[in-house]
Amino acid sequence: MKKLKIADGIHMLTMNVDDILFEGMWEIANGVTLNSYIVQGDKTAIIDGVIGWDGVPETLYKNLEEIGVEPKNINYLIVNHMEPDHSGWISNFRKIKEDFTIICTDKAAKMVASFYGEDNIRIVKEGDTLDLGKGKVLSFHPVPNVHWPDTMYTYERDTKTLFSCDMFGAFGRMGDHCFDDDLTPEEVDFFEFEGIRYYSNVMTTFTPSLRKAIEKAKTLEINIIAPGHGPVYRKNPQKIIDDYTRFSRYAEGAGKNEVAILWGSMYGMTAKAVDYVEGILKREGVKYNKIEMPQESDSEMVATVFKSAGVIIAAPTYEYKLFPPVAAALNELGRKRITGKLAFRFGSYGWSGGAEKELNEIMERNKMNWDFIESVEFEGAPKEEDLIKIEARVLELIKKMREKVLEP
Ligand code: FEO
Repeated sequence: MKKLKIADGIHMLTMNVDDILFEGMWEIANGVTLNSYIVQGDKTAIIDGVIGWDGVPETLYKNLEEIGVEPKNINYLIVNHMEPDHSGWISNFRKIKEDFTIICTDKAAKMVASFYGEDNIRIVKEGDTLDLGKGKVLSFHPVPNVHWPDTMYTYERDTKTLFSCDMFGAFGRMGDHCFDDDLTPEEVDFFEFEGIRYYSNVMTTFTPSLRKAIEKAKTLEINIIAPGHGPVYRKNPQKIIDDYTRFSRYAEGAGKNEVAILWGSMYGMTAKAVDYVEGILKREGVKYNKIEMPQESDSEMVATVFKSAGVIIAAPTYEYKLFPPVAAALNELGRKRITGKLAFRFGSYGWSGGAEKELNEIMERNKMNWDFIESVEFEGAPKEEDLIKIEARVLELIKKMREKVLEP
């Protein structure tokens, strides 16, 4: 666990977590940080906690003492969001201190009571404040469905710091550099992709609500954005606001100037055409990423398709339907409400077709509204005439995807 001073009277505690499936399902290749913030006036508040999984409160308390905070003197636990990655330590805290007040929204209060049995709760609404003394005044701003329905921003007026919880967060473990102005260019790129991974894996279903949260952030004068996961933005908080604005457009079909090849193959027939397509993309100078299912994780698959302006689906027919690992991937993208992508599909069949029918059913059922270039299906191995058709459609995709490109 690391301790950092954010501003006078405000500290951050952060720890990296590696060996977990986030939400019990997302295999996060590069881990995640859990950030907690302590605001000290005459009274002391802690915003979110950092010991969700290890259950070792002593680690937290030792670190608090090292920044001059006696855990027994903490007056307020501010729960920006009840999901246990932020609140899992509350019951442990009760073991060392009885008289603290939990501050949260009405929706969080219900869950705090049901998950932890806590009842000393002050419910806050838009614009309510908490004066900690010594100039530190916190205000509270619900941002429902920034992930869960209970979420709120906490804003510190003196330093103009926005404690944004999941909003403006990223996956990815932090090394020595936790502030935007300390990050190397490689770390900036790393956290941009980990931000995309976070947004696409965890948040994208709630894109309309995230847009409202972006607008709410714009109504506050912000010097620092301090999220629950990932780096703190103190030099240029606008960068992460702009990133999240762009990510919200990726959810609806825009993307980087790159192609995702989402593919699977039983006996290598569809794979032959994938190799051919790679050659075309290389020749045309188009960046691409291959996602082979089921080998690749859902986390990587969702993030890669989400950020791409063009999607090539390469999958055969399997038992009269779409190759199941690719069908499952597309269903997951549909559940995540990733809509409006430009796509092209090809694939092999043996006994008969059927993949295309299921592809259409998945698109319909999930209201994905993807824009498809006419598919190419071939019997057995791809022949010369199949490859010619595939090449023409890939070139069409490259041309059309220019309208979808949205880069930083
Ligand atoms: Fe940081 Fe919604 O979890």
